[in-house]
Amino acid sequence: MNDTLKVLETRRSCRNFKPDMVKKEELDAILKAGTYAATGMGKQSPIIIAVTDKKLRDEISEENRKIGGWNGDFDPFYGAPVILIVLADKNIPTHVYDGALVMGNLMNAAESLGVSSIWIHRAKEEFESDFGKSILKKLGIEGDYEGIGHCALGYAAEPAKDAAPRKANYIYYAE
Ligand SMILES: Cc1cc2nc3c(=O)[nH]c(=O)nc-3n(C[C@H](O)[C@H](O)[C@H](O)COP(=O)(O)O)c2cc1C
Repeated sequence: MNDTLKVLETRRSCRNFKPDMVKKEELDAILKAGTYAATGMGKQSPIIIAVTDKKLRDEISEENRKIGGWNGDFDPFYGAPVILIVLADKNIPTHVYDGALVMGNLMNAAESLGVSSIWIHRAKEEFESDFGKSILKKLGIEGDYEGIGHCALGYAAEPAKDAAPRKANYIYYAE
């Protein structure tokens, strides 16, 4: 198996992160990989907000927790110190597909560098709210963006679990 296939097969979601900040060069490489995802008609509809500030990270976690309906102790980002938020321009018909592919690139690039990750949901609701809109405003981001997902990043505090077995009939060969 070549290195790319190995990364694609062995990447697993992390639900227990160390608090240590991701190294800048690793973070930059992961972000760059995200920007090279394929997009419909090459329109590059997504944007990525890289949150490394602890205060903002904790505020987003709190908002995400509330949207998810969990109690006050739960951190939906599992302690990850970095949150990459992918949003995409609603005016582009392929924006959700584009954003999902960026998310995939981010997670696989992270895996290739020994950085753990997980997709955390509810970005759509987050950025429909005044809370999310105020983050965009503070960053000077104008436009009509839909939240696609959060890629939580950090170093794993425990080894990854094995992948679930792949379901039967995942693939059909039409030969
Ligand atoms: C669209 C999407 C949304 C997800 N949202 C969450 C989430 O909010 N919380 C969570 O713990 N995991 C979330 N996950 C991670 C999945 O649970 C995980 O990918 C799945 O169990 C398979 O495990 P693996 O990533 O280790 O292969 C999400 C994954 C995807 C693709």
